[in-house]
Amino acid sequence: MNCLTSKRILLGITGGVAAYKAAELVRRLRERGAEVRVVMTQAAQAFITPLTLQALSGQRVHTDLLDPEAEAAMGHIELARWTDAVLVAPATADFLARLAQGRADDLLATLCLATRAPLAVAPAMNQAMWTNPATRDNLALLARRGVRVWGPAEGAQACGETGPGRLLEPEALLDRLDGLFADGALAGRRVLITAGPTREAIDPVRFLSNRSSGKMGYALAAAAVEAGALVTLVSGPVALDCPPGVTRVWAEDALSMHALVQERAGQADIFIATAAVADYRPRQVATAKLKKDAATLNLELERNPDILAAVAAMPNAPFCMGFAAETDNLVAHARKKRLAKGLDLVAANWVGAPGQGFDSDDNALELFWEGGQESLPEAPKTRLARELIGIIARLYQEKYPQGTPQDLHAQDSA
Ligand code: PMT
Repeated sequence: MNCLTSKRILLGITGGVAAYKAAELVRRLRERGAEVRVVMTQAAQAFITPLTLQALSGQRVHTDLLDPEAEAAMGHIELARWTDAVLVAPATADFLARLAQGRADDLLATLCLATRAPLAVAPAMNQAMWTNPATRDNLALLARRGVRVWGPAEGAQACGETGPGRLLEPEALLDRLDGLFADGALAGRRVLITAGPTREAIDPVRFLSNRSSGKMGYALAAAAVEAGALVTLVSGPVALDCPPGVTRVWAEDALSMHALVQERAGQADIFIATAAVADYRPRQVATAKLKKDAATLNLELERNPDILAAVAAMPNAPFCMGFAAETDNLVAHARKKRLAKGLDLVAANWVGAPGQGFDSDDNALELFWEGGQESLPEAPKTRLARELIGIIARLYQEKYPQGTPQDLHAQDSA
């Protein structure tokens, strides 16, 4: 995939050790056919010289807001209009704070305010600065405003510590930029999604269920359609409209959701299990409404099938993504679930606290796949869904560069 040809990229560089990686990024962007203009903050110039970036980009590097010569040529407003996308890499904690405040106290911050093009930041900083609540709040605010946050990666840091805060490698940033311009990253792909809760009948009027509203799964269905996929949504009982372009089938309980998914999974390229499926159902369903004669009532429960694990275990299984809804040890539980269910990707979210997870408009996700992980900070589910679909499309493409198992199976049997 290369959607960067002829794209105009404005690369902002702020003052961190990782600024040296920007040189490689500029070189690789140009290799992919992009036109690159570089804007550096004053601090960035302490780490890498404008001359290096000028040589690599083939363009004058912009550094000053009040530079009469630059303003006479391509001034800051022209630059903001010129670009197809702005990427700030590395983005320091200080720059993110200024961006969150909407400051225009240097050329780069002013351009970020003035542009209508998509804006992405690739944070790089000490791990304690990254986890500081001030930085987390700034990022959550930026994400809510539509700023894309790419990375950081985790590992050894220049300061000698280890943890999250490393700038994503140039190749990963190129892929993200590419994904930004990819029209229909899932064009023609068949995506099967489960969403919402299940209801496990106790008697004709009562059931066991949970607080899932379906919002996360429905947002993913809408985002997958936007990305060009043919989407089938197996939905538990929710009060949401079906997103345009999505085929919806209703499932009341786990057994019917399981059957509906089994019927369709063989034709799917990608399966996304967002539904909060009840793990147990009453062993006996009373045919008449239970009477409250006794002081206590014992319900015997039996295990429901694991819909996601069953799909992942199919021969020619589609690319499988699941969620992990956790109230403790999120990372450990999510990693364990990915391996136990044989998933390509798992998205873990905190549940049980207000504002995220079940029945809220916002969420935050920790993604884990073989050899990789990424945090998607708190943002509206609609926005997270778009980002997640972009990541799924990329991982899917990496896993099946020659086509999906279904395509290959069809070719084999032709
Ligand atoms: O619907 P919303 O209000 O928007 O809330 C979204 C959400 C919190 C429900 C969603 O983000 C989420 O976390 N969904 C998964 C909930 C869940 O059941 O998690 P789990 O950790 O128990 O299950 C792990 C995975 O296995 C999930 O992908 C689940 O869909 C799947 N599963 C679980 C049990 C089962 N019998 N069959 C399954 O397919």
